Amino acid sequence: MKPAVRIAITGAAGNIGYAAAFRISAGDMLGADQPVILQLIEIEPALQALRGVEMELLDCAFPLLEEVIVTTDLSVGFKDADYVLLIGSKPRTKGMERSDLLSDNGKIFKPQGRAINEHSSRDVKVLVIGNPANTNGLIAVNNAPDLSPTQFTSMMRLDHNRALNQLSLKTETPVTGISRLTVWGNHSLTQYPDISHCSIGGESATSLIDMTWYKETFLSSVQKRGAEIIVARGASSAASAASAAIDHMRDWVFGTSGEDWTSMSIVSNGDYGITEGLMFSFPVRCKDGEYEVVRDLEIDDFSREMIQATEKELLEERDAVKDLL
Ligand code: NAD
Ligand code: LMR
Repeated sequence: MKPAVRIAITGAAGNIGYAAAFRISAGDMLGADQPVILQLIEIEPALQALRGVEMELLDCAFPLLEEVIVTTDLSVGFKDADYVLLIGSKPRTKGMERSDLLSDNGKIFKPQGRAINEHSSRDVKVLVIGNPANTNGLIAVNNAPDLSPTQFTSMMRLDHNRALNQLSLKTETPVTGISRLTVWGNHSLTQYPDISHCSIGGESATSLIDMTWYKETFLSSVQKRGAEIIVARGASSAASAASAAIDHMRDWVFGTSGEDWTSMSIVSNGDYGITEGLMFSFPVRCKDGEYEVVRDLEIDDFSREMIQATEKELLEERDAVKDLL
């Protein structure tokens, strides 16, 4: 058996944390041969609920779950962590945009970035899920100067999976037959789900998809899916968000498949003209635990406009949190 790895999860008593912890313990994220130690972090008012989650995890008798640590102390929770899921923060409610959460949630990610910098494994891989995820990720990475910016990512995989689902339903093609889809930019209304390079059942998506449906229905259905779920469920997406987090981490660790790619929000190196240092979603391929931006894709005028609009929004969010960077 491999030695156990340490996975820190903030907000572990919340809806996404509750969905994620059990699937991770069952081996869905890191494989059926990888023992795990869960380091579950909460704030004081949720500590009792977190102890209940711990009891349930232990009661599953998961063969891979070596230990559960429950804490409110960041120095304990992030200690030697190999993987970190930053979930803990407020979700939005009906009528809000995710950026409305910035003033409440942004300040959570500064001390967490610092604590990861100080206490986690030097090879830690961090995924920020708490909204607004890109800018919270930007705050965390800017407070972890001793780690590489490439160790911090924010989640766009839920948007990517939502877009796959919409394309699959429309073309009656299994999701496994759809590749090279990209969701660019911010996890917000300005995100740009781009099918220009996408292949569906071996054919180019643009030859199969009616572009009026694409521009007038598909884009907004993906962009507004989070709000649609809040109206339907009375609470924001949780199991699908946990599943996307597991997909994101699994691909980062084990690699994307062949010539396909996925969408990950990472610190921009200036690729595609995006401002350096911004947490922005790009098409990436992963291999051997690293990701690389898929470069040299042709960007048409429509895509350029969409990509610039989502960059502009992220620049505004960055300006709003400059005291936390
Ligand atoms: P939830 O309210 O069910 O749970 C949040 C948990 O975080 C609570 O248990 C709370 O006690 C805890 N928490 C709050 N502040 C904390 C802190 N400083 N440290 C540790 N824990 C803290 O919410 P949820 O449905 O699990 O959603 C969590 C976040 O994820 C929200 O911001 C939501 O908008 C976001 N989200 C992001 C995506 C995405 O695709 N990026 C998808 C879904 C939800
Ligand atoms: C989602 O996309 O489902 C989450 O970001 C929650 C939300 O506020 O939409």
